[in-house]
Amino acid sequence: MQETIHRGLVGVVADTTEISFIDGDQGELSYRGYDISELTEASYEEVVYLLWNGELPNAAELSAFRDELAPLGALPFEIVDRLRCARPDTEPMHLMRTAVSNLACHDPNPDEVDAENVRRIGHRLLVQFPTIVSTIERLRHGLEPVDPDPELSIAGNFLYTLTGERPTEAATHVMDVALVLHAEHGSNASTFTARTAASSLTDVYSAVTAGVGSLKGPLHGGANEAVMRALEEIGSVENAEPYVMETLAKPHGRVMGFGHRVYRVLDPRAAILARVAQKLARESGESKYWEMSLEIARVMEREMAKRQRAVAPNVDFFSASVYRMLGFPIDMYTPIFAVARISGWMAHLYEQYADNRLVRPLLAYEGPKGKKFKPVSSR
Ligand SMILES: CC(C)(COP(=O)(O)OP(=O)(O)OC[C@H]1O[C@@H](n2cnc3c(N)ncnc32)[C@H](O)[C@@H]1OP(=O)(O)O)[C@@H](O)C(=O)NCCC(=O)NCCS
Repeated sequence: MQETIHRGLVGVVADTTEISFIDGDQGELSYRGYDISELTEASYEEVVYLLWNGELPNAAELSAFRDELAPLGALPFEIVDRLRCARPDTEPMHLMRTAVSNLACHDPNPDEVDAENVRRIGHRLLVQFPTIVSTIERLRHGLEPVDPDPELSIAGNFLYTLTGERPTEAATHVMDVALVLHAEHGSNASTFTARTAASSLTDVYSAVTAGVGSLKGPLHGGANEAVMRALEEIGSVENAEPYVMETLAKPHGRVMGFGHRVYRVLDPRAAILARVAQKLARESGESKYWEMSLEIARVMEREMAKRQRAVAPNVDFFSASVYRMLGFPIDMYTPIFAVARISGWMAHLYEQYADNRLVRPLLAYEGPKGKKFKPVSSR
């Protein structure tokens, strides 16, 4: 019988979810029924609460959630020591994946996957992720890690533990918006990876470590770093068009930060981040990357229309210049994506563990059959 093969699982609906909804034709994304553009007015904590509990918190619920999270952000000293021992040129995503995996060794109950234990671990990971990233960044510059301040929000603490200085409200707000926009996106590669790992009823740390590994790839979360490297290589607005044309002339040439498996039109997160990038460019007077981004988008729109391809900017295209203007080093962009996406991964793990079925698709075998075994001496 001829099987239908869905390479890349394109169009395959693997399960149901109540967490988020994407309309790729209309360019719409909602978390638990709330349009993403409205949620950029909320703090990251409010949105995490929404993703994890199904509804936005009232003031008392939000305050209790913040109080629960506040003491959990510091890392065990053994994790810091291991990060300290790494070669200073190790890519941050390798350090991050290793640190997340290592956290299991400092948890007295890493393995049980009942709802209570999974949520306990989720709370810890949510606030330990930003500390892991800021600790990596500080250690490689010879600086001591800074413990999170229980008075600050997750976005504020990320900036505080990175720089050692209390961030401005404006910077904290931009960080909140970036975290909210990157928090959740349905069955993307890393979330599917985490859910698939969890479907064997392995532990949360293993599932999340798998998610971090998947996020790192340049076709997924690694794209924001690739976008910034491309912008640096292009260097000026005048060079943008030749760069795009040269890239598209290559077989399967990809301009990073464009295209999406689900969106046929502009990614709604990119539209919001474009406005943030424009505002930051105006305020900082550093408009070069914003102007280059606009020029690349203009040329891509023209060329994709000619080729009748539904390819538009995705979330990574403008997040790159936003992160640049916030002063983050390029190889921190994907770890910062992970700081946001841990909330989405955990929401999906709660769903997966609560009603699990092992994920186990098929592959159509195309190799040889019927071969006869010979012992090694006669091969
Ligand atoms: C995201 C991505 C992996 C989606 O992949 P996909 O659903 O498998 O879509 P495809 O790669 O098959 O793209 C279909 C066609 O659209 C065009 N296309 C898609 N993305 C493109 C891009 N970034 N630049 C130029 N052309 C692109 C190509 O013509 C492609 O056909 P080809 O493979 O014959 O060249 C893909 O668009 C991509 O590689 N983008 C760049 C990386 C990126 O920004 N990733 C972050 C995603 S949020």
